[in-house]
Parts: sequence; structure tokens; C-alpha cells
Amino acid sequence: MSNPEPNPALTALDALLEQARQAALHSYSPYSGFRVGAALRLSNGAVVTGTNVENVSYGLTICAERSALVAAVSQFGPGIRIEAVAVANLNGAPSPPCGACRQMLSEFILPDAPVVFPAADGIRTMPFSEILPLAFDMKLKG
Ligand code: THU
Repeated sequence: MSNPEPNPALTALDALLEQARQAALHSYSPYSGFRVGAALRLSNGAVVTGTNVENVSYGLTICAERSALVAAVSQFGPGIRIEAVAVANLNGAPSPPCGACRQMLSEFILPDAPVVFPAADGIRTMPFSEILPLAFDMKLKG
């Protein structure tokens, strides 16, 4: 039997994951040793990556996902829409996006956008709305 045709959507997510891995090579993480990379695919077709940047004042650390997000807005402006997210780490550990990063992503991401990340049972892909079902979203009245 011949192999089925490769699914282009899955192939694109694999490529995004590889870009996240490459970004993790730039991690500045002397305190945790945990090297994380994130890649965002935008609706304009661009891919923007980020990595975690730690600080001796530990709480100032920025995660890879938020690093990528602020880079994307800085490059393309506030109208960006995120169509897919990939997260990778070089430590062979699970690393779904943390809660703070999910909330930050929620501002710019499409609800159905796939989020690919290393989980305890391997690489998982979940729609954004499933990893953050109740994002804070302040609707001003009037
Ligand atoms: N980190 C990320 O880059 N993304 C996350 O979603 C969670 C944690 C980073 C922050 C810190 O540099 C290291 O991982 C250990 O917490």
C-alpha cells in the first residue's frame, strides 16, 4: 500500500515546531537552565520567534511565548492575528505555555489556532480555546 499524502497543515505545524526549537538555542537561562523557544505564525504569513530571557531578579524573566508576542507586535503592529503557536524546549521536558503567556496570547490569537507543545505524553496539539477556556476579557460598557 502506498503512503498517504502528507497533510499540509500538519507539515506546517512540524515546520513551526522546528522554528521554535531553533529559537530555543538563543535562550538566556543561566538561572533555570531551561531553554524554551516559541514560534508564532501570523495571518500575514510571517513567522515570529522568541526565547526566554531570564534576569538575576528572577521575577523579571520573560517567557519565550511572550517574547515572541512582543516581537510580533513590535514588527507588524497591533493588528496582528496569531494563527498557530509552537513551543519547544531543549530539556526534554513538558512545557505547555504558562498561564500568563496564555492570557497574553489571548489578546491576539484566533480561538481555533492550534497550539503545539511538549506534554508528558509527547508532542500535543490543542486549539487555543481549550488551553485557555475563560480568558479575562474586559468588555467596557457603553
Ligand atoms: N518559561 C517559558 O519560556 N515559557 C513558559 O510558558 C513557562 C516557563 C521559561 C521561564 C524561565 O526562564 C524558565 O522557563 C523556567 O521557568
